[in-house]
Amino acid sequence: KAFKLAVIPGDGIGKEVIAAGMKVLTYLEEQSDGKFKFESDYFNWGSDYYLEHGSMIPKNGVETLKDYDAIYFGAVGDPRVPDHVSLWGLRIAICQGLDQWANIRPVEFLPGINHRIAHPDPESLNWILVRENSEGEYSGIGGRNFSARPDEREVAIQSSIFTEHGCERIIRFAFDLARTRKRKKVTSVTKSNAQQYGMVLWDEVFQRVSKEYPDVETDQWLVDAMAAQFVLNPDDLEVVVASNLFADILSDLGSALAGSLGIASSANLQIDKRFPSMFESVHGSAPDIAGKGVANPIGTIASAALMLEDLGLQEEANKVHEAIRRTTAQGIITRDIGGTSNTEEITNAIIKNLTL
Ligand code: NAI
Ligand code: MG
Repeated sequence: KAFKLAVIPGDGIGKEVIAAGMKVLTYLEEQSDGKFKFESDYFNWGSDYYLEHGSMIPKNGVETLKDYDAIYFGAVGDPRVPDHVSLWGLRIAICQGLDQWANIRPVEFLPGINHRIAHPDPESLNWILVRENSEGEYSGIGGRNFSARPDEREVAIQSSIFTEHGCERIIRFAFDLARTRKRKKVTSVTKSNAQQYGMVLWDEVFQRVSKEYPDVETDQWLVDAMAAQFVLNPDDLEVVVASNLFADILSDLGSALAGSLGIASSANLQIDKRFPSMFESVHGSAPDIAGKGVANPIGTIASAALMLEDLGLQEEANKVHEAIRRTTAQGIITRDIGGTSNTEEITNAIIKNLTL
Protein backbone atom coordinates (compact mmCIF):
# COMPACT_ATOMS: atom_id res chain seq x y z
CA LYS A 1 0.00 0.00 0.00
CA ALA A 2 1.21 3.52 -0.81
CA PHE A 3 0.65 6.30 1.71
CA LYS A 4 0.76 9.91 0.59
CA LEU A 5 2.62 12.01 3.16
CA ALA A 6 2.72 15.79 3.25
CA VAL A 7 5.98 16.71 4.96
CA ILE A 8 6.30 20.23 6.40
CA PRO A 9 9.65 20.69 8.19
CA GLY A 10 8.93 24.37 8.98
CA ASP A 11 11.46 26.45 10.91
CA GLY A 12 14.51 26.05 13.13
CA ILE A 13 15.07 22.57 14.55
CA GLY A 14 11.83 21.51 12.79
CA LYS A 15 13.98 20.88 9.73
CA GLU A 16 16.51 18.79 11.65
CA VAL A 17 14.06 16.61 13.55
CA ILE A 18 11.88 16.00 10.50
CA ALA A 19 14.97 14.85 8.59
CA ALA A 20 15.60 12.40 11.44
CA GLY A 21 12.02 11.16 11.42
CA MET A 22 11.99 10.71 7.65
CA LYS A 23 15.18 8.66 7.89
CA VAL A 24 13.40 6.29 10.28
CA LEU A 25 10.31 6.07 8.05
CA THR A 26 12.42 5.45 4.95
CA TYR A 27 14.23 2.64 6.74
CA LEU A 28 10.94 1.02 7.78
CA GLU A 29 9.71 1.27 4.21
CA GLU A 30 12.85 -0.45 2.90
CA GLN A 31 12.42 -3.21 5.46
CA SER A 32 8.77 -3.80 4.65
CA ASP A 33 9.46 -5.82 1.48
CA GLY A 34 6.96 -3.77 -0.48
CA LYS A 35 4.20 -4.13 2.09
CA PHE A 36 3.90 -0.35 2.21
CA LYS A 37 5.61 2.72 0.89
CA PHE A 38 5.51 6.41 1.51
CA GLU A 39 5.03 8.89 -1.30
CA SER A 40 6.29 12.02 0.37
CA ASP A 41 5.84 15.56 -0.88
CA TYR A 42 7.81 18.27 0.88
CA PHE A 43 6.35 21.73 1.47
CA ASN A 44 8.74 24.59 2.19
CA TRP A 45 6.13 26.54 4.16
CA GLY A 46 7.27 28.51 7.17
CA SER A 47 9.00 31.74 8.07
CA ASP A 48 11.37 31.84 5.07
CA TYR A 49 8.34 31.39 2.83
CA TYR A 50 6.61 34.20 4.73
CA LEU A 51 9.50 36.62 4.32
CA GLU A 52 9.45 35.96 0.58
CA HIS A 53 5.69 35.78 -0.08
CA GLY A 54 4.02 37.64 2.79
CA SER A 55 2.11 34.58 4.02
CA MET A 56 3.16 31.42 5.81
CA ILE A 57 1.48 29.16 3.27
CA PRO A 58 0.01 29.76 -0.18
CA LYS A 59 -3.67 30.69 -0.49
CA ASN A 60 -4.80 27.16 -1.37
CA GLY A 61 -2.27 25.58 1.01
CA VAL A 62 -4.66 23.96 3.48
CA GLU A 63 -6.82 22.76 0.57
CA THR A 64 -3.77 21.06 -1.00
CA LEU A 65 -3.20 19.03 2.17
CA LYS A 66 -6.60 17.35 1.89
CA ASP A 67 -5.17 15.04 -0.80
CA TYR A 68 -2.79 13.37 1.65
CA ASP A 69 -3.12 10.44 4.04
CA ALA A 70 -1.15 12.18 6.78
CA ILE A 71 0.82 15.33 7.51
CA TYR A 72 4.21 15.20 9.21
CA PHE A 73 5.10 18.53 10.75
CA GLY A 74 8.31 19.92 12.28
CA ALA A 75 7.87 23.22 14.11
CA VAL A 76 7.23 26.83 13.35
CA GLY A 77 8.69 30.04 14.75
CA ASP A 78 11.47 32.39 13.73
CA PRO A 79 12.85 35.48 15.49
CA ARG A 80 12.29 37.51 12.30
CA VAL A 81 8.52 36.91 12.26
CA PRO A 82 6.10 37.70 15.13
CA ASP A 83 5.16 34.42 16.85
CA HIS A 84 1.42 35.00 16.59
CA VAL A 85 1.79 35.48 12.83
CA SER A 86 3.82 32.31 12.29
CA LEU A 87 1.78 30.08 14.62
CA TRP A 88 -1.60 31.17 13.32
CA GLY A 89 -0.37 31.28 9.71
CA LEU A 90 0.83 27.70 9.69
CA ARG A 91 0.12 25.31 12.55
CA ILE A 92 -3.23 26.66 13.71
CA ALA A 93 -4.27 27.31 10.09
CA ILE A 94 -3.81 23.60 9.38
CA CYS A 95 -5.28 22.22 12.62
CA GLN A 96 -8.39 24.38 12.44
CA GLY A 97 -8.63 24.32 8.62
CA LEU A 98 -8.66 20.53 8.59
CA ASP A 99 -10.78 20.27 11.76
CA GLN A 100 -8.16 18.24 13.60
CA TRP A 101 -10.12 18.69 16.79
CA ALA A 102 -8.40 16.15 19.04
CA ASN A 103 -4.77 16.67 19.99
CA ILE A 104 -3.27 13.80 21.95
CA ARG A 105 -0.02 14.23 23.82
CA PRO A 106 1.31 11.17 25.63
CA VAL A 107 3.59 11.62 28.61
CA GLU A 108 5.86 8.59 28.71
CA PHE A 109 8.58 7.25 30.90
CA LEU A 110 11.80 6.53 29.03
CA PRO A 111 14.51 4.44 30.67
CA GLY A 112 18.04 5.74 31.09
CA ILE A 113 17.36 9.44 30.93
CA ASN A 114 18.06 12.12 33.44
CA HIS A 115 14.86 13.25 35.13
CA ARG A 116 15.79 16.68 36.35
CA ILE A 117 12.61 16.83 38.38
CA ALA A 118 13.04 14.08 40.93
CA HIS A 119 10.17 11.68 41.37
CA PRO A 120 10.06 8.60 43.60
CA ASP A 121 8.53 6.50 40.85
CA PRO A 122 9.37 7.84 37.40
CA GLU A 123 7.69 4.83 35.80
CA SER A 124 4.37 6.26 36.92
CA LEU A 125 4.99 9.03 34.39
CA ASN A 126 2.69 7.40 31.90
CA TRP A 127 -0.43 9.22 30.95
CA ILE A 128 -2.02 10.85 27.99
CA LEU A 129 -3.18 14.39 27.67
CA VAL A 130 -6.14 15.10 25.40
CA ARG A 131 -6.29 18.66 24.16
CA GLU A 132 -9.33 20.32 22.63
CA ASN A 133 -7.81 21.56 19.39
CA SER A 134 -10.45 23.54 17.52
CA GLU A 135 -11.90 26.26 19.74
CA GLY A 136 -11.70 27.42 23.37
CA GLU A 137 -9.10 30.06 24.12
CA TYR A 138 -7.56 29.73 20.65
CA SER A 139 -10.68 30.74 18.75
CA GLY A 140 -9.02 33.87 17.44
CA ILE A 141 -11.99 36.05 18.32
CA GLY A 142 -11.27 39.55 19.48
CA GLY A 143 -9.39 42.60 18.42
CA ARG A 144 -7.23 45.53 19.38
CA ASN A 145 -7.88 49.22 20.00
CA PHE A 146 -11.17 48.98 21.78
CA SER A 147 -11.16 52.36 23.43
CA ALA A 148 -14.07 54.68 23.69
CA ARG A 149 -12.10 57.89 23.29
CA PRO A 150 -8.81 58.57 21.57
CA ASP A 151 -7.16 59.70 24.82
CA GLU A 152 -7.84 56.35 26.52
CA ARG A 153 -5.25 53.63 26.80
CA GLU A 154 -5.68 50.67 24.46
CA VAL A 155 -8.03 47.80 25.31
CA ALA A 156 -7.59 44.40 23.66
CA ILE A 157 -10.26 41.72 23.71
CA GLN A 158 -9.46 38.02 23.41
CA SER A 159 -12.53 35.83 23.64
CA SER A 160 -12.89 32.10 24.14
CA ILE A 161 -15.53 30.01 22.46
CA PHE A 162 -16.86 26.84 24.04
CA THR A 163 -19.55 25.05 22.09
CA GLU A 164 -21.53 22.16 23.51
CA HIS A 165 -20.66 20.23 20.34
CA GLY A 166 -16.93 20.97 20.72
CA CYS A 167 -16.85 20.09 24.41
CA GLU A 168 -18.87 16.95 23.92
CA ARG A 169 -16.81 15.46 21.10
CA ILE A 170 -13.47 15.93 22.88
CA ILE A 171 -14.80 14.65 26.22
CA ARG A 172 -16.37 11.64 24.53
CA PHE A 173 -13.06 11.00 22.74
CA ALA A 174 -11.25 11.05 26.10
CA PHE A 175 -13.67 8.50 27.54
CA ASP A 176 -13.33 6.23 24.52
CA LEU A 177 -9.56 6.50 24.80
CA ALA A 178 -9.70 5.67 28.52
CA ARG A 179 -11.52 2.45 27.71
CA THR A 180 -8.46 1.28 25.73
CA ARG A 181 -6.10 1.85 28.67
CA LYS A 182 -5.20 -0.46 31.50
CA ARG A 183 -6.53 1.93 34.09
CA LYS A 184 -9.85 3.36 32.93
CA LYS A 185 -9.88 6.90 34.24
CA VAL A 186 -10.53 10.37 32.83
CA THR A 187 -9.51 13.55 34.61
CA SER A 188 -11.14 16.75 33.38
CA VAL A 189 -9.37 20.08 33.92
CA THR A 190 -11.09 23.47 33.85
CA LYS A 191 -11.15 26.74 35.77
CA SER A 192 -14.87 26.96 36.20
CA ASN A 193 -14.71 28.89 39.46
CA ALA A 194 -13.22 31.90 37.68
CA GLN A 195 -14.48 31.38 34.12
CA GLN A 196 -18.19 31.13 34.69
CA TYR A 197 -19.57 30.49 31.20
CA GLY A 198 -17.51 28.29 28.89
CA MET A 199 -15.82 26.25 31.58
CA VAL A 200 -19.07 25.66 33.44
CA LEU A 201 -20.58 24.39 30.18
CA TRP A 202 -17.56 22.07 29.83
CA ASP A 203 -18.08 20.74 33.37
CA GLU A 204 -21.77 20.10 32.73
CA VAL A 205 -21.06 18.25 29.49
CA PHE A 206 -18.39 16.22 31.28
CA GLN A 207 -20.91 15.21 33.98
CA ARG A 208 -23.50 14.26 31.40
CA VAL A 209 -21.17 12.25 29.15
CA SER A 210 -19.57 10.47 32.11
CA LYS A 211 -22.91 8.81 32.87
CA GLU A 212 -22.62 6.90 29.60
CA TYR A 213 -19.30 5.44 30.76
CA PRO A 214 -20.04 3.88 34.16
CA ASP A 215 -16.95 1.65 33.74
CA VAL A 216 -14.64 4.68 33.59
CA GLU A 217 -13.48 6.40 36.76
CA THR A 218 -13.71 10.21 36.67
CA ASP A 219 -12.06 13.13 38.38
CA GLN A 220 -12.45 16.90 37.96
CA TRP A 221 -9.82 19.49 38.85
CA LEU A 222 -9.15 23.18 38.57
CA VAL A 223 -6.14 23.83 36.40
CA ASP A 224 -3.99 25.51 39.04
CA ALA A 225 -4.40 22.58 41.41
CA MET A 226 -3.82 20.17 38.52
CA ALA A 227 -0.44 21.79 37.79
CA ALA A 228 0.61 20.86 41.32
CA GLN A 229 -0.93 17.41 40.96
CA PHE A 230 1.16 16.78 37.82
CA VAL A 231 4.29 17.30 39.88
CA LEU A 232 3.24 15.70 43.17
CA ASN A 233 0.96 12.78 42.20
CA PRO A 234 1.50 11.84 38.56
CA ASP A 235 0.57 8.23 39.32
CA ASP A 236 -2.99 9.43 39.81
CA LEU A 237 -3.33 10.40 36.14
CA GLU A 238 -4.30 8.27 33.16
CA VAL A 239 -6.26 10.26 30.55
CA VAL A 240 -6.38 14.01 31.19
CA VAL A 241 -8.73 16.12 29.08
CA ALA A 242 -8.53 19.91 28.96
CA SER A 243 -9.18 22.97 26.84
CA ASN A 244 -6.87 24.24 24.10
CA LEU A 245 -4.85 26.61 26.32
CA PHE A 246 -4.79 24.55 29.51
CA ALA A 247 -3.72 21.36 27.76
CA ASP A 248 -1.09 23.31 25.83
CA ILE A 249 0.47 24.49 29.08
CA LEU A 250 0.04 21.20 30.93
CA SER A 251 1.65 19.24 28.08
CA ASP A 252 4.89 21.21 28.38
CA LEU A 253 4.83 20.58 32.12
CA GLY A 254 4.18 16.88 31.52
CA SER A 255 7.04 16.56 29.07
CA ALA A 256 9.40 18.40 31.42
CA LEU A 257 8.48 15.92 34.16
CA ALA A 258 9.16 13.04 31.80
CA GLY A 259 12.58 14.53 31.04
CA SER A 260 12.42 17.17 28.32
CA LEU A 261 10.24 18.91 25.79
CA GLY A 262 12.41 17.16 23.23
CA ILE A 263 10.87 13.74 23.87
CA ALA A 264 7.18 14.72 23.73
CA SER A 265 5.11 13.54 20.77
CA SER A 266 1.69 14.58 19.60
CA ALA A 267 -1.03 13.87 17.08
CA ASN A 268 -3.61 16.34 15.82
CA LEU A 269 -6.32 13.90 14.93
CA GLN A 270 -9.12 14.35 12.45
CA ILE A 271 -11.26 11.75 14.15
CA ASP A 272 -14.06 11.80 11.56
CA LYS A 273 -11.45 10.84 8.89
CA ARG A 274 -12.70 13.48 6.48
CA PHE A 275 -9.24 15.02 6.26
CA PRO A 276 -5.71 13.90 7.15
CA SER A 277 -4.36 14.12 10.69
CA MET A 278 -1.11 15.91 11.52
CA PHE A 279 1.77 14.52 13.57
CA GLU A 280 4.35 16.72 15.28
CA SER A 281 6.49 17.00 18.36
CA VAL A 282 5.21 19.21 21.17
CA HIS A 283 8.23 21.52 21.19
CA GLY A 284 8.74 24.59 19.03
CA SER A 285 11.51 25.64 16.64
CA ALA A 286 14.07 26.16 19.45
CA PRO A 287 16.04 28.99 17.80
CA ASP A 288 18.59 28.78 20.64
CA ILE A 289 19.89 25.41 19.39
CA ALA A 290 18.81 25.46 15.74
CA GLY A 291 21.44 24.63 13.14
CA LYS A 292 23.77 22.93 15.63
CA GLY A 293 22.65 19.37 15.00
CA VAL A 294 22.00 18.73 18.68
CA ALA A 295 18.19 18.79 18.80
CA ASN A 296 16.54 15.80 20.39
CA PRO A 297 14.68 13.97 17.59
CA ILE A 298 12.78 11.60 19.92
CA GLY A 299 9.59 13.68 20.10
CA THR A 300 9.35 13.84 16.34
CA ILE A 301 10.27 10.18 15.81
CA ALA A 302 7.69 9.15 18.43
CA SER A 303 5.20 11.32 16.53
CA ALA A 304 6.01 9.30 13.42
CA ALA A 305 5.05 6.23 15.44
CA LEU A 306 1.69 7.84 16.20
CA MET A 307 1.34 8.45 12.47
CA LEU A 308 2.15 4.81 11.65
CA GLU A 309 -0.54 3.76 14.12
CA ASP A 310 -3.05 6.10 12.48
CA LEU A 311 -2.20 4.62 9.06
CA GLY A 312 -2.89 1.13 10.37
CA LEU A 313 0.77 0.10 10.72
CA GLN A 314 0.52 -0.82 14.39
CA GLU A 315 3.37 -3.33 14.36
CA GLU A 316 5.78 -0.78 12.90
CA ALA A 317 4.56 1.81 15.39
CA ASN A 318 5.33 -0.53 18.29
CA LYS A 319 8.76 -1.22 16.84
CA VAL A 320 9.59 2.47 16.75
CA HIS A 321 8.48 3.00 20.36
CA GLU A 322 10.55 0.01 21.44
CA ALA A 323 13.61 1.20 19.48
CA ILE A 324 13.38 4.60 21.21
CA ARG A 325 13.26 2.91 24.63
CA ARG A 326 16.24 0.68 23.80
CA THR A 327 18.24 3.66 22.60
CA THR A 328 17.67 5.76 25.72
CA ALA A 329 18.33 2.72 27.93
CA GLN A 330 21.72 2.40 26.19
CA GLY A 331 22.48 5.98 27.25
CA ILE A 332 22.47 7.25 23.68
CA ILE A 333 20.72 10.52 24.47
CA THR A 334 20.97 14.23 23.72
CA ARG A 335 22.10 16.99 26.06
CA ASP A 336 18.60 18.01 27.13
CA ILE A 337 18.10 14.64 28.82
CA GLY A 338 21.58 14.35 30.27
CA GLY A 339 23.66 12.88 27.43
CA THR A 340 26.21 13.95 24.87
CA SER A 341 24.92 12.44 21.61
CA ASN A 342 23.81 14.58 18.70
CA THR A 343 20.71 14.31 16.52
CA GLU A 344 22.36 12.07 13.95
CA GLU A 345 23.84 9.64 16.47
CA ILE A 346 20.50 9.15 18.21
CA THR A 347 18.66 8.70 14.92
CA ASN A 348 21.15 6.09 13.73
CA ALA A 349 20.96 4.26 17.05
CA ILE A 350 17.17 4.18 16.88
CA ILE A 351 17.36 2.75 13.36
CA LYS A 352 19.87 0.15 14.51
CA ASN A 353 17.58 -0.79 17.38
CA LEU A 354 14.68 -1.26 14.96
CA THR A 355 16.28 -4.39 13.59
CA LEU A 356 17.15 -6.03 16.88
P1 NAI B 1 10.67 25.66 22.21
O1 NAI B 1 9.90 24.44 22.43
O2 NAI B 1 11.09 25.91 20.81
O3 NAI B 1 11.98 25.67 23.13
C1 NAI B 1 11.91 25.71 24.55
C2 NAI B 1 13.24 25.20 25.14
O4 NAI B 1 13.31 23.77 24.97
C3 NAI B 1 14.47 25.77 24.44
O5 NAI B 1 15.48 25.99 25.38
C4 NAI B 1 14.87 24.66 23.48
O6 NAI B 1 16.23 24.64 23.17
C5 NAI B 1 14.43 23.40 24.22
N1 NAI B 1 14.03 22.36 23.25
C6 NAI B 1 12.87 22.33 22.54
N2 NAI B 1 12.85 21.28 21.72
C7 NAI B 1 14.02 20.62 21.92
C8 NAI B 1 14.59 19.45 21.34
N3 NAI B 1 13.95 18.74 20.40
N4 NAI B 1 15.82 19.07 21.75
C9 NAI B 1 16.46 19.76 22.70
N5 NAI B 1 15.98 20.88 23.28
C10 NAI B 1 14.76 21.31 22.89
O7 NAI B 1 9.77 26.87 22.74
P2 NAI B 1 10.04 28.46 22.68
O8 NAI B 1 11.49 28.73 22.86
O9 NAI B 1 9.05 29.03 23.61
O10 NAI B 1 9.58 28.90 21.24
C11 NAI B 1 10.46 28.99 20.12
C12 NAI B 1 9.62 29.23 18.88
O11 NAI B 1 8.81 28.07 18.62
C13 NAI B 1 8.64 30.38 19.02
O12 NAI B 1 8.65 31.06 17.78
C14 NAI B 1 7.30 29.73 19.27
O13 NAI B 1 6.22 30.49 18.84
C15 NAI B 1 7.44 28.47 18.47
N6 NAI B 1 6.60 27.34 18.92
C16 NAI B 1 6.09 26.54 17.94
C17 NAI B 1 5.38 25.42 18.25
C18 NAI B 1 4.94 24.53 17.14
O14 NAI B 1 5.38 24.66 16.02
N7 NAI B 1 4.09 23.57 17.38
C19 NAI B 1 5.13 25.04 19.65
C20 NAI B 1 5.77 25.91 20.61
C21 NAI B 1 6.47 27.01 20.24
MG1 MG C 1 2.82 24.39 23.26
